Amino acid sequence: MDAGIANKKRKLEDTNGNDGQAEGGSHFVKEGPNQENHTSLMFGIKEEIGSLARTLNLFEQSKVNLSHIESRPSRRSNDAYEFLVTCDKGPEDLSDVIGQLKGVSSYVHLLSRTHSTNSEFSDSGTKPTAEIPWFPRRIKDLDKFANQILSYGAELDSDHPGFTDPVYRARRKEFADIAFNYKYGQTIPRVKYTEAEIKTWGTIFDKLTELYPTHACREFNHIFPLLIENCGYRKDNIPQLEDISNFMKDCTGFSLRPVAGLLSSRDFLAGLAFRVFHSTQYIRHGSKPMYTPEPDVCHELLGHVPLFADPVFAQFSQEIGLASLGAPDSYIEKLATCYWFTVEFGLCRQDGEEKAYGAGLLSSFGELQYCLTDQPEKKPFEPAVTAETKYPITKFQPTYFVSESFEDAKEKMRSYAATIPRPFSVRYDPYTQSVVVLDKKEQLEEMIHAMQGDLNILKDALQKVS
Ligand SMILES: [Fe+2]
Repeated sequence: MDAGIANKKRKLEDTNGNDGQAEGGSHFVKEGPNQENHTSLMFGIKEEIGSLARTLNLFEQSKVNLSHIESRPSRRSNDAYEFLVTCDKGPEDLSDVIGQLKGVSSYVHLLSRTHSTNSEFSDSGTKPTAEIPWFPRRIKDLDKFANQILSYGAELDSDHPGFTDPVYRARRKEFADIAFNYKYGQTIPRVKYTEAEIKTWGTIFDKLTELYPTHACREFNHIFPLLIENCGYRKDNIPQLEDISNFMKDCTGFSLRPVAGLLSSRDFLAGLAFRVFHSTQYIRHGSKPMYTPEPDVCHELLGHVPLFADPVFAQFSQEIGLASLGAPDSYIEKLATCYWFTVEFGLCRQDGEEKAYGAGLLSSFGELQYCLTDQPEKKPFEPAVTAETKYPITKFQPTYFVSESFEDAKEKMRSYAATIPRPFSVRYDPYTQSVVVLDKKEQLEEMIHAMQGDLNILKDALQKVS
């Protein structure tokens, strides 16, 4: 996808919201490792004087430019560091440097995934071998994304409010480590938030909850009190991801999993196919409570969570995720743009009035007010049009797309997904929490049998109700 959701950071919002600059959003949706000319590598080296310089020299000698480099103490060994680098070449051009790296590193992981052929999807193996990007088939495959992150959550840009604060940076590393080590099925570790962190949350909670009754959509206002009741949403308490995840599972089967850093659009959207939302757990820096250059726990819990507990919105979000599985890169960009204009910045019409349902709006005091004024342009949500719309990421949106209802948006997304060139269809099986690739006649017959069973239940119920 373009740089819209990618590398740039969304900028400042003031508490009055009049400066037209925005916060929130989902810029952790970042395109990266599957780009043809970029490859990410992770490797570990011993902490010795000059060891990093010697290692980087290998890239220079092989004429490989590094566009990104990060480091952190190794989780495998006390006297080693691990590095994440992004190179400007495809994996096939890196065999030399990888071979040399292996000689000086304790391990080397190639993070970019190669495309698989469609032979695993075809019944005979004789179909054309068009390339289909790898995608997770089982919910626990999402564990692989923890090692596919494009940056560590502990790394801050120089213009981040917490950049010069060692306490904040150490705290961010704690959160990044929780997410990095998290595996499917585990309880999400509970965090004891500090008084300062709770104060930051409380400031935002107070401001936003003033606006929700008049600015948020009906579904949001229905669920928010339930989160207060069941998950400890309060001014003086930052709710725990585990409690929220359990609540969401009860409502719609959606769950949360902590994320350590930036995910590619492809990986992030794939999570939605399994009704999994990758959530940050850290909070923004306390010096600027109404500003965050990246998603934080306030954005996720106040902006996103309530609607993932709504059945129709959950289905809509999953549709985007399912459409992304195995889709060509160009369509990932289009789907991520649809995600941006709906899940992040969507408006809907209810009882003749516009209301906000996008998380980037519902977590931003300034933009939540601005989006309902006459200032920005409003267009009806049409995925084919929305998907081609460019948008700024450092200021309030000049254009919003308005859905008639979540049901309507879901049907439109479903129709749009059918235009994505894929030689197969996918279906989510909630019993096994896996994605079934439908490309064989027998599978379709099995599906018809299952539907016949459901139709019998429906017929029986109709007779009893009438
Ligand atoms: Fe978001």
